[in-house]
Amino acid sequence: MKHFTNVHDIGPLDAAIKEALELKADRFAFSDLGRNKTLMMIFFNSSLRTRLSTQKAALNLGMNVIVLDINQGAWKLETERGVIMDGDRPEHLLEAIPVMGCYCDIIGVRSFAGLKDKAEDYEERVISQFIKYSGRPVFSMEAATRHPLQSFADLITIEEYKTKERPKVVMTWAPHPKALPQAVPNSFAEWMNATDYEFVITHPEGYELAPEFVGNARVEYDQKKALEDADFVYAKNWSAYADPNYGKVLSTDRAWTVDSEKMGLTDNAFFMHCLPVRRNMIVTDDVIESERSIVIPEAANREISAQVVLKNMLKSL
Ligand code: CP
Repeated sequence: MKHFTNVHDIGPLDAAIKEALELKADRFAFSDLGRNKTLMMIFFNSSLRTRLSTQKAALNLGMNVIVLDINQGAWKLETERGVIMDGDRPEHLLEAIPVMGCYCDIIGVRSFAGLKDKAEDYEERVISQFIKYSGRPVFSMEAATRHPLQSFADLITIEEYKTKERPKVVMTWAPHPKALPQAVPNSFAEWMNATDYEFVITHPEGYELAPEFVGNARVEYDQKKALEDADFVYAKNWSAYADPNYGKVLSTDRAWTVDSEKMGLTDNAFFMHCLPVRRNMIVTDDVIESERSIVIPEAANREISAQVVLKNMLKSL
């Protein structure tokens, strides 16, 4: 595997899931593979799970790890070419990226959407430049439009908990006070559409995702109708994608919060969320604390998804 930014980079999903479950059963089986190899993790944005799980995955494989928080202790980076650099950004990404590539074998990058310029976000300018200029295999630790390590972990979790060959998976928008990127829902949709699950997306009007991510999913504006007979409920907030409201919060309507009454419409569904989650905005305390909530095993699988990706990158070095 050269780079990992979307579902296509992982190859056939059946094989990826099998590999993930095997690694989970024996996560130190390849502890020599990463000897004398260095992972550099570069964060333009905050993280708890991605930071810890990816580091743990690398350690399981015997790698060394360097973590750089761009906004804490590194020079502020200019990202636009052609800019007269007379402002507060003393280093350009075009030098910084190849320099970072000198000190490692594999690079992970987290860089969220700015939510101001849709074209810039959907071009994936930051991670694309890492791929172009670092000279190293690069993987996404959440980019502007996708969060593939999360989606892969979500898929592994569904495979572990499903009791039907073709479960009904419902991704529901839920309220949040701040504007969030579409990366997690885009990516989840992309991965679900690559399975043969029944996949439904529900959100208020105005929150339509980009058509290339919605794919063949059924879009249902009536949340309760969407949730009927669901086997998995995947809650997530996102800001508007459609113009002229790109990146805006159009609603904080708590009628969309996932509560026990709504979970009662499902087929005793499991509740999922990528975390961090705003309780009693996205989901009520009782639902996230219930026996059907699998948010912690879902987060635990982040170690496994990262380990599969790193293992395959190490093999192709
Ligand atoms: N789900 C997820 O990516 O969590 P972090 O933002 O804490 O890494």
